[in-house]
Amino acid sequence: MRNGLSAAAFVPVTASLPELAKASKRCEGCDLYRNATQTVFGEGPKNAPVFLVGEQPGDREDIAGQPFVGPPGRMLDQALSDAGIDRNVVYVTNAVKHFKFEERGKRRLHKKPNAAEIKACHPWLEAELNAVKPRIVVAMGATATPAPAGRNVQLTRDRGKFLPYPSAEALLVTIHPSFLLRMPDRDIKEREYNRFVEDFKLVNDRLKQSA
Ligand code: URA
Repeated sequence: MRNGLSAAAFVPVTASLPELAKASKRCEGCDLYRNATQTVFGEGPKNAPVFLVGEQPGDREDIAGQPFVGPPGRMLDQALSDAGIDRNVVYVTNAVKHFKFEERGKRRLHKKPNAAEIKACHPWLEAELNAVKPRIVVAMGATATPAPAGRNVQLTRDRGKFLPYPSAEALLVTIHPSFLLRMPDRDIKEREYNRFVEDFKLVNDRLKQSA
């Protein structure tokens, strides 16, 4: 990883979501573009009231060019639906827009993005927030949380509460759906899934309150 890198030079200043998505395809703001198939930009309606931030695209997303289309995406869709949130009102993106992996034979294994890569990609997240102007931002997982929230928010301490946020009405942090997929114990998995749905129910209730 080269030092001091940033996507800033690749982000058009005042741009619509489609313009941002197009420009993101040429991003070389950190080294992750070298091995990934393509940039995976966010997706969703331009005035989405809910803005979800994941970690980075996975293997499926890297190939499809769309966020959350693999197993974690299906888990997320199920939880949104169980919480009564229509996926059509949600903008979904990632803290990092390229897939980071290591090759093991024919498999590409997910590797966590580091703090410098998350920081380098931040200008895209900021541009998406400016374009969408959501009411509620939801950060999913400990790796994704600092991207929109900064270092003073911690997943375990701050989960499931509405926190103040400069570019939206509120921020809520919750777990990442991949965490549920990795759980071997069925009972614990079910309990944790229900908590995940409860977090989204809080979001849904808040949307209804002042809609
Ligand atoms: N995990 C993420 O954080 N984002 C995706 O798009 C897919 C899996």
